[in-house]
Amino acid sequence: MNPQAKELNTIIRDNNTMLFEMLSERGRNIFFPKKGILGQTADAKGKKINATIGSAIEDDNTPMRLESVEKQLNISPSLAFPYAPSYGRPDIRKRWKELIYIKNPALYGKEISLPIVTSALTHALSMTGYLFLDHTDSVLMPDLYWGNYNLIFTNAYGAGIEKFNLFRDEKFDLESFEKSVTNMKSGKKIILFNFPNNPSGYTPAVNEVKSIVSILRNEAEKGNMIIAIMDDAYFGLVYEDGIEKESLFAYLADLHENLLAIKVDGPTKEDYVWGFRIGFITYGIRNGNKALYEALEAKTAGAVRGSISNACNLTQSLLMNAYCSEEYQPEKSEKYSILSARFRKVREILKTGKYNDFFTALPFNSGYFMCIRLKKGLDGERLRYLLLDKYDTGVIQMNDLIRIAFSSVAESDIPVLFENICNACREISS
Ligand SMILES: Cc1ncc(COP(=O)(O)O)c(C=O)c1O
Repeated sequence: MNPQAKELNTIIRDNNTMLFEMLSERGRNIFFPKKGILGQTADAKGKKINATIGSAIEDDNTPMRLESVEKQLNISPSLAFPYAPSYGRPDIRKRWKELIYIKNPALYGKEISLPIVTSALTHALSMTGYLFLDHTDSVLMPDLYWGNYNLIFTNAYGAGIEKFNLFRDEKFDLESFEKSVTNMKSGKKIILFNFPNNPSGYTPAVNEVKSIVSILRNEAEKGNMIIAIMDDAYFGLVYEDGIEKESLFAYLADLHENLLAIKVDGPTKEDYVWGFRIGFITYGIRNGNKALYEALEAKTAGAVRGSISNACNLTQSLLMNAYCSEEYQPEKSEKYSILSARFRKVREILKTGKYNDFFTALPFNSGYFMCIRLKKGLDGERLRYLLLDKYDTGVIQMNDLIRIAFSSVAESDIPVLFENICNACREISS
């Protein structure tokens, strides 16, 4: 093992032996190479003649660049063309951390790590797998989940996926959750929470979140190691009262010394920049101190360095500027209102009961999506094709469930969308 990895492992073990045990084999071996090219480059920063960095500079010391590219950008070349650090730009890391506290008041007074920048959430989840998943591990998640978790956790790291029922009687199925957590192989229990959920558009109610936290506390108190991964891709898009508006991370970040909370989030959906490819990984654990968090950050940055080297500098800079501008919050509120109005339109349509012969809606209160369950005898794939061919309408089919992204349909088109689904259902059922 590289001595730099050993050094990080010692810091982690000295602070929390359980946390060291949570690391995967890869996670134990990884480190951020301080001493090689990166370290020597850092030592030479600011020198009159700097022949260390693997990028090119103009004679005036600014980044070398093509006019055909530069003329499209309204930003200083220094914020766009050079590499960003593997940890991410220090300014956006600091700002994102501040924003996490602002968006999650329950985190007040709890110490968390500085976020590490990734190439959006998919990559952040993959890096989480890199650091904490061995092929002998399984990840517990709701039975309704984003299909890409299979590729991220199973194909890449060989981990299994275990499921609990998300719903029972139109509510979060606490019983199934508790039973599944308890029944997981004792030792290291890895649980993934994605609320607002893709595909259902569900976020648990405030009291349900309290119960989830209490179940996890019990498990940790029994001596199990718990890794709770929060995929907060759709954070902030909760449309109903009584539904939890903060991330579960806020309640888990200092819950117990045996429980590591990992927040995976980013601007992809929160700030409507799907193609920018920026995300963050942030850690929280009871008694997590600076040394412990810095060791975890170094391991995470090492994993980033070994996968994508570093995330896009240009998009980090654009976002950082937005996060410091006065227009950012009002503009976000405006977009929230548009999505919220679409959500309410779907609710209003379903309330009429007009479509009950063909489908029923699964609980939904947040995010981009909602799902309908087709009545027995209606074939989802046939329905999908008919909608495409005859009704000029696209939806996602998952057996008897149809996922509807109301986020991507104008409010005025939502009644037509449901009318089309209903008519297509009528056709295939006759
Ligand atoms: C639940 C969930 N997590 C993560 C992602 C991936 O986000 P990103 O585009 O930032 O990689 C998605 C995208 O659809 C998602 O639905």
